[in-house]
Amino acid sequence: MMDRNADAPWSQFDPEVYVDLNYRTPLEVDLLIVRLMRDHFSSCFARGVPDSMRGVDVGAGANLYPGLAMLPWCEKIVLLEYAQPNVEYLERQTAPEGYDEAWDAFWNELSEAPAYADVKPRDRISEIVRVERANLLDLDGQRRWDIGTMFFVADSMSECPDEFRRGVRCFMDVLNEKAPFAAAFMKESAGYRVGEHWYPAYRVNEDQVRESLEPFTSELEIHDLHHVVRPGHEGIILALGRRNSEVVAP
Ligand SMILES: C[S@@+](CC[C@H](N)C(=O)[O-])C[C@H]1O[C@@H](n2cnc3c(N)ncnc32)[C@H](O)[C@@H]1O
Repeated sequence: MMDRNADAPWSQFDPEVYVDLNYRTPLEVDLLIVRLMRDHFSSCFARGVPDSMRGVDVGAGANLYPGLAMLPWCEKIVLLEYAQPNVEYLERQTAPEGYDEAWDAFWNELSEAPAYADVKPRDRISEIVRVERANLLDLDGQRRWDIGTMFFVADSMSECPDEFRRGVRCFMDVLNEKAPFAAAFMKESAGYRVGEHWYPAYRVNEDQVRESLEPFTSELEIHDLHHVVRPGHEGIILALGRRNSEVVAP
């Protein structure tokens, strides 16, 4: 029996343990991802930033860096997340008191680029970011955003190939035409443990990521990063691109 998204213990997800495992000590691969994403967004807006841009991070979980990467470009950002403990974590991180020091290392990388240099991230996050509980698989494209990120979600929420593809489609369907996006996937993940609980994954490689995204994209650049951060996967795949204008049948 394959574990479906609805079967996993999301209500038991422990964000502090997850941050300890993944982000408290910044890994070289995440810093590399942050630089690549920063440069992608910067080049998308090299000729100016459209007015009143809205950003979304889907399945934001206990990771603030995709949201930080969207900060200079947006008037508003929504962090969508399904697991209640992660929603509460994100609410604390975006409160006026300011986010944890753990995220400073990622902002340091971002602030090397001109668009980020003058932003005060703690003030700006609490001003423009809102957290909302939502199920990615229920997003139906009714609401749309101008820039978006999805990090380790479509591949890290179910063992089922159909839910992986549906997760990618639901993400791409909330993006407006030409919206820049960044999406990351664990390569060949066999699932992952957070504290006492085990979470499912669908094993993907570069080809599957490309196939799933291509119908929705005009520009698409895939980085196959060979960094292994724990047992049970083979690297990280980072996809950077822009939403195309085609209407794709489900
Ligand atoms: C591996 S974590 C990734 C978290 C974070 N984006 C990161 O980069 O570290 C997977 C995330 O997907 C969320 N998730 C699982 N199923 C979801 C669903 N149906 N809709 C939205 N988020 C979901 C989990 O709660 C968790 O935060």
